[in-house]
Amino acid sequence: MKVDVLLGLQWGDEGKGKIVDVLTPKYNIIARFQGGPNAGHTLEFNGIKHVLHIIPSGIFHGNSINIVGNGVVIDPVIFKKEVDALKKMGVDVKSRLLLSKRAHLILPTHRLLDAASEASKGKEKIGSTLKGIGPAYMDKTGRNGLRVGDITLPDFKKKYDFLVAKHKQILDGYKFSYNLKELEGPWLAATEELKELEHIDSEHYLNKALHGKKAILAEGAQGSLLDIDFGSYPFVTSSNTICAGACTGLGIAPSRIGEVIGIFKAYCTRVGSGPFPTELEDETGELLRKNGNEFGSTTGRPRRCGWLDLPALKYAIMVNGVTSLIMMKADVLSSFETIKVCTHYMHNGKKTDQLPYDISPGQVEPVYHELKGWNRDLTTLHSIGDIPEELNDYILFLEKELGVPINIVSVGPDRTQTLLRNGVLA
Ligand code: GDP
Ligand code: IMO
Ligand code: MG
Repeated sequence: MKVDVLLGLQWGDEGKGKIVDVLTPKYNIIARFQGGPNAGHTLEFNGIKHVLHIIPSGIFHGNSINIVGNGVVIDPVIFKKEVDALKKMGVDVKSRLLLSKRAHLILPTHRLLDAASEASKGKEKIGSTLKGIGPAYMDKTGRNGLRVGDITLPDFKKKYDFLVAKHKQILDGYKFSYNLKELEGPWLAATEELKELEHIDSEHYLNKALHGKKAILAEGAQGSLLDIDFGSYPFVTSSNTICAGACTGLGIAPSRIGEVIGIFKAYCTRVGSGPFPTELEDETGELLRKNGNEFGSTTGRPRRCGWLDLPALKYAIMVNGVTSLIMMKADVLSSFETIKVCTHYMHNGKKTDQLPYDISPGQVEPVYHELKGWNRDLTTLHSIGDIPEELNDYILFLEKELGVPINIVSVGPDRTQTLLRNGVLA
């Protein structure tokens, strides 16, 4: 068996949570491979809307196991809140959720360092979710971090104090006031509660499952344009969000990767700072935000909106080796008479569809192709056969440009508002 990987191809919030939930019945195991509580993955079913941050989006299905992989960074306090909310809904978390011993912990001082660093940058700030992601991954690569497997060690508190002392020294270098005591108590209590869940060697677990013919889906967080290597650096997150991140974040060999399922919105959004060539800072952008309810699932910040960007999407498809595409939020474009798609950039006086090193304003100018809108509500459709001709033309145009089939089209936030193409899930 192989591991299928599902990941975002834009700047995050493509709708990964919804689709993982839809696909989970096909899989025995859902495994998150990177990121942490900076993610907000929304699911809707039976009139319930739920946002997950660290826990994989397969958790609502009783027949699958969910794993938080070694590539993820966990804030015990946020994690505990997530577990408690699920328990309240009657989800048997203990039997469905396993944690990698190798996953790193986000300390309260990581959050403080994130806030201090962002504050010091002023207008140049990354627009971080302030969940401590950057500092936690810095400690991981700097070989100072604490891991889930450390929690049960007798000298855990000593290790914690040692790292906090280091962080305090760094914080002293910032003009930043904080109250660590207030954060520390709940954090230490939450790490105790983490002990209630099973901590595993997830790389062994997953590889054994593969040999045992179990179907595994790796769930990505963020999006390819936020990847630490291939995103719009430095306005990125601190992990490899691309497909290769599933190998390092789960202990899966590259030869074990099966389908690479790439998700994109029928338009583009971005939250936080950084370049966004097709951004619309006008009433069209406003309309996209309003129709798409484009406000961050984690921070509530308004998302920046713009037209679909094919050079960026082609780049993401290339670095991930995407084999199957899913287009989300087609319904959000329903009120537009015409829809624009950026097919190329003008860059250094030349037309190109290749994403260049620098996409900051002034470096690239989008070239648009205009298509006729469908101007019809899609949210009540149940079959791909019923979609308006103009939407079908939009899909065929994108497939031709991108060279990868679009196998699912999403027309609303609910599980049921999902149209299948090409016989997927049949
Ligand atoms: P994720 O981070 O990739 O899981 O995406 P988010 O949950 O942060 O953001 C996607 C938002 O769009 C959520 O509020 C979803 O409920 C919503 N959503 C997902 N698919 C669709 C869709 O096809 N149409 C509409 N209108 N909303 C959708
Ligand atoms: P999901 O999984 C959208 C963005 C932040 C900021 C940058 C760095 O829900 O798609 P960080 O907190 O990682 O230091 O922030 O990355 N960002 C996201 N944007 N969706 C996400 O996750 C994001 N996670 C981080 O807004 O610009
Ligand atoms: Mg999100």
